[in-house]
Amino acid sequence: MLSFASLSLSLAFASLVCGTAGSQISSNKNISYTNPILSGWNSDPSCVFVAERENTFFCTTSSFLAYPGAPVYASKDLINWKLASNAVNRPDQIPSLLTAKNVQTGGIYASTLRYHNSTFYMITTYIEDPLPPTFYIFTSKDATNDSAWSMPFAIETPYIIDPDIFFDDDGTVVVAYAGHPIKAQVIDMKTGNATETFDMWNGTGNGFTEGPHIYKKDGYYYLLVAEGGTELGHSAVIARSVSLRGPYESSPSNPLVTNRRTNEYFQSVGHADLFQDESGNWWGVALAVRGGPTLYNQTVYPMGRETSLFPVTWPKGKWPTASPVRGRMIGPLPQPSRNVSGEGLFIGEADVVDFVPGSAIPKHFDFWHTPVKPTSFTVSPSNKLNTLRLTASRSNLTGDTNFVPADGVTLVTRRQAHTLFNFTVDIELLGCNAKEGDEVGITSYLDQFQHVDLGIVYLARNKNDKTTIPYLRFRATIVGKTNFTGVVSQTKIIALPPTWANDLVRLGISTVNATYFAFSAAPAARPSASIVVSTANTTLISGGLLGSYATTNGANRTVQAYVSRWRYVPVAQEIDYGTFVYSD
Ligand SMILES: *[C@@H]1O[C@H](CO)[C@@H](O)[C@H](O)[C@H]1NC(C)=O
Ligand SMILES: *[C@@H]1O[C@H](CO)[C@@H](O)[C@H](O)[C@H]1NC(C)=O
Ligand SMILES: *[C@@H]1O[C@H](CO)[C@@H](O)[C@H](O)[C@H]1NC(C)=O
Ligand SMILES: *[C@@H]1O[C@H](CO)[C@@H](O)[C@H](O)[C@H]1NC(C)=O
Ligand SMILES: *[C@@H]1O[C@H](CO)[C@@H](O)[C@H](O)[C@H]1NC(C)=O
Ligand SMILES: *[C@@H]1O[C@H](CO)[C@@H](O)[C@H](O)[C@H]1NC(C)=O
Ligand SMILES: *[C@@H]1O[C@H](CO)[C@@H](O)[C@H](O)[C@H]1NC(C)=O
Ligand SMILES: *[C@@H]1O[C@H](CO)[C@@H](O)[C@H](O)[C@H]1NC(C)=O
Ligand SMILES: *[C@@H]1O[C@H](CO)[C@@H](O)[C@H](O)[C@H]1NC(C)=O
Ligand SMILES: *[C@@H]1O[C@H](CO)[C@@H](O)[C@H](O)[C@H]1NC(C)=O
Ligand SMILES: *[C@@H]1O[C@H](CO)[C@@H](O)[C@H](O)[C@H]1NC(C)=O
Ligand SMILES: *[C@@H]1O[C@H](CO)[C@@H](O)[C@H](O)[C@H]1NC(C)=O
Repeated sequence: MLSFASLSLSLAFASLVCGTAGSQISSNKNISYTNPILSGWNSDPSCVFVAERENTFFCTTSSFLAYPGAPVYASKDLINWKLASNAVNRPDQIPSLLTAKNVQTGGIYASTLRYHNSTFYMITTYIEDPLPPTFYIFTSKDATNDSAWSMPFAIETPYIIDPDIFFDDDGTVVVAYAGHPIKAQVIDMKTGNATETFDMWNGTGNGFTEGPHIYKKDGYYYLLVAEGGTELGHSAVIARSVSLRGPYESSPSNPLVTNRRTNEYFQSVGHADLFQDESGNWWGVALAVRGGPTLYNQTVYPMGRETSLFPVTWPKGKWPTASPVRGRMIGPLPQPSRNVSGEGLFIGEADVVDFVPGSAIPKHFDFWHTPVKPTSFTVSPSNKLNTLRLTASRSNLTGDTNFVPADGVTLVTRRQAHTLFNFTVDIELLGCNAKEGDEVGITSYLDQFQHVDLGIVYLARNKNDKTTIPYLRFRATIVGKTNFTGVVSQTKIIALPPTWANDLVRLGISTVNATYFAFSAAPAARPSASIVVSTANTTLISGGLLGSYATTNGANRTVQAYVSRWRYVPVAQEIDYGTFVYSD
């Protein structure tokens, strides 16, 4: 299975203005903008423009094992994107997301988002443990409302990945998917059964054909396909036919987009989707990786896989052409607007989270798997207002050999959305009753096998005296990746300065540069006394999640930790070698 070969390669680093409402005609003037539009861990984008929802664009990206899953972002101007909902937001939608094995090819990914008959349709791949894949369809009448997303509807699965859903004018519903050739099946939407399967297209010869999307335009069926593997050879190519079943003719201007064999800062451009705005302009979104090919070849992907936007020209009856993906681009964007529905944050906004009474865990926070015990994460408990109470998990962020996901891991995160950022969380010391191994801290986390942590850990005074004292412990973990050749920072343990003992401790992760993080600690009341405990080469992280955790490191006991004043401060995006766009 070719596409799985490509998948495992691609996932080896898995790794993301003021308003005029609908009445006004959008401007067609070229406006300058910067990529990526969905920064941070946001791969495999699929987007749709919905005129009847106030001319709003909606996109979804892959969430793998994170929960809530299948984020849907909404925008009026293609630049300001708000997290509008998460299609997977209730444990009963996919119960096994709680127990799915920690494999980088696991979970929910490579979805297609469409709007048909006043309904949003999201079709997605779900992989558990680690095979076989299932195709699920979620529907919603309101993509800005979590609760409106349906339970999944399973369709007959071809045991492959990357489903597209296409509604033909005659009512036929077609699901195309990865493979060589790209294949499709006609689906009976009452039963989910496939009534017919057919081959579509072999691509242009670069192999790894996947991520298909079908469009109908000017009497042709167009088939857009990712090709060349999702690493440096990645691209998007397009073909067309007057018949859905082919034969498909390749565009003379293929590839539609790619940055392969260039030294561009944005690499791995592919897995694209196309859509048209209110003014009739065409646009594309694609996965891209920042950092350039030299870093890439050293397995360094500072921000992981993100979503970029590019203008597309597609005259009637003609082939589409696209502007290549760069950090700074121009295009005929709609009027700027932040008047977008939904309760989430705009991508790129800061976190100022004080866990105030009556508030919920923010929508853009992610857990690793569905939380086993939701009560492990309590906002503003009555005994300690304005904190997040973390009930420590037995398992730490790595787990031990007995680890099963149903043990649960007490970890709450947000995506790293900027090249340069500052992240801090205040931590209350556990006190005199803390036992050996109790730990609460912050992490830069890719998955259970790759993370860098700074914790306050309690360790026994010595062999004979089991009373504990708190230490600052920095640890970089990389396990289960036998081919990893990068730099792994040494563990560092230093006693917590005794003068900090009566205060909250502010733990922080900040960026020295795109590939180097500093892990620091300070007494919360005296941030100027901050010390850098250690730095880490981000080779082993690749633009993942930032968060806070609590664990007993293997012991069965109830330990409650309290974290507060969660801050994520955007500093800058690097959009070309040495070119930074600073946040205000
Ligand atoms: C916008 O820029 C593109 C690329 O440079 C150019 O082809 C197009 O004519 C411009 N459109 C307008 C309306 O200026
Ligand atoms: C459109 O949706 C309505 C209700 O939401 C449903 O009754 C109808 O069957 C749907 N039509 C098609 C063609 O899917
Ligand atoms: C969200 O959707 C749910 C389920 O369809 C519905 O009960 C609720 O009223 C909706 N909320 C809003 C604000 O529309
Ligand atoms: C078609 O769907 C029905 C109802 O879900 C199911 O019983 C049957 O096995 C399916 N047939 C095939 C070929 O999958
Ligand atoms: C794909 O290539 C194979 C091998 O050359 C060929 O047999 C097959 O017909 C091709 N399929 C399509 C849909 O073009
Ligand atoms: C990256 O590696 C590929 C495959 O080995 C090679 O073809 C390419 O020249 C390398 N590029 C750079 C900039 O090192
Ligand atoms: C980010 O953190 C660094 C190191 O702690 C600090 O020097 C810098 O002022 C911070 N920048 C912002 C914008 O908060
Ligand atoms: C390590 O690399 C070898 C050779 O490229 C490959 O066959 C093997 O699958 C890799 N192992 C892992 C765990 O990635
Ligand atoms: C970070 O790791 C990469 C890959 O191993 C290495 O090439 C680079 O020199 C390291 N940078 C530093 C500053 O240690
Ligand atoms: C990032 O910082 C590290 C540590 O100071 C340094 O070794 C490395 O060269 C820097 N990388 C870049 C791209 O500036
Ligand atoms: C995780 O906990 C286990 C015990 O359950 C311990 O052996 C291991 O060292 C810990 N690893 C990390 C990175 O904390
Ligand atoms: C912790 O509890 C689990 C389940 O109750 C048990 O299987 C395990 O052996 C216990 N571990 C320790 C270290 O006591």
